[in-house]
Amino acid sequence: APIDVDPASYDAGEHDSFMYKEMLEQPAAAERVLRGRLDERFGTAHLGGLNMDPRETRAIRRVKILGCGSAYYVGQMGAALVEELARIPADAEAASEFRYRDPVIEPDTLYVAVSQSGETLDTLLAVQEIRRKGGRVVGLVNVVGSAIARACDGGIYLHAGPEVAVASTKALTNMFLGFALLSLQLGRVRDLSIADGNRLIAGLARIPEQIAEILQREEELAEVARRLAGSESLFFIGRVRGFPVAREGAQKFKEISYRHAEAYQTSELKHGPLALISEGVPTVAIVPDDELTSRNVGALHEIAARRGPLVVVTHEGVDLGDVDAMRIDVPRNERELDPILLTVPLQVLAYHAALHLGHDIDKPRNLAKSVTVE
Ligand code: G6P
Repeated sequence: APIDVDPASYDAGEHDSFMYKEMLEQPAAAERVLRGRLDERFGTAHLGGLNMDPRETRAIRRVKILGCGSAYYVGQMGAALVEELARIPADAEAASEFRYRDPVIEPDTLYVAVSQSGETLDTLLAVQEIRRKGGRVVGLVNVVGSAIARACDGGIYLHAGPEVAVASTKALTNMFLGFALLSLQLGRVRDLSIADGNRLIAGLARIPEQIAEILQREEELAEVARRLAGSESLFFIGRVRGFPVAREGAQKFKEISYRHAEAYQTSELKHGPLALISEGVPTVAIVPDDELTSRNVGALHEIAARRGPLVVVTHEGVDLGDVDAMRIDVPRNERELDPILLTVPLQVLAYHAALHLGHDIDKPRNLAKSVTVE
């Protein structure tokens, strides 16, 4: 089976690492996943590869998303998109756990397997388990013709181009956009209006440029990263839409900087981890401008009162009160699409922390790009 590109046949060019190169490729990669798939006339997405007609699409009662590592976290972001846009109950689960609990497979559930490589064994075995029990699986896969892509009933190719660094950047971004396209299509055969469909289409079209804007602020982010790199342990917090962003941010940070980075729901802070907050334990808080902003800002005060250093990833104009924080503003888009723009600066933070600490960015210790064993 075609696995990943051979890194030897591919080179990072002028860049010091593939991760850096791939991070910078995101605006172009994001354009590719959207190209030809947005239909402004009907406010929907065209996804021919799903192999589902409108009647089958309408019959879906639940969406279950499966992936490992970053693909699992972006799956959680995807589940939120499906629920918000299509109003279909959706959740994500680690594919590595799924088949061990003898899952109930339902005919009116749409299963979605998410994988950059298309070769992750845990995800592949989950797909096979579902299909053996008669379930329908679509893939959100980057590598064309990979094992997972072939094992699914249909899918959406991510067109991110070859990704070599273990820490996923452009493939992850395209996974999110793939979920946005899927949610748009699921929504438009249900109750999502054409106007709302077009609102999202306009938002999606702005994403590539907005990612570029964030990447242009690399120096400012590098400075924040160097400060975080000095701590042995840190928290990433967010809630609802922001929680998977925090999980992915913590994942990247621990993968390549080897610092203990733990993700928590902001709402759960007071139920445990607050005990650990102190001068030496920084928190990266995801605080988008949404219906939860004031509650999130309340939590920032709790942290500041315990002298915990704060980095806040937020939107311009959000009032953080008198909290002393290093602030990172990301561009505004439609609220549903915020998670991906909140995620990009966290990639840059992890990258620059690892660079500062002198670690191998592309090949972190003990990890493989695709895990093809159990
Ligand atoms: C490995 C990598 C992770 C990656 C996961 C899923 O564990 O270390 O960075 O997110 O596999 O890979 P996939 O190719 O299925 O997206």
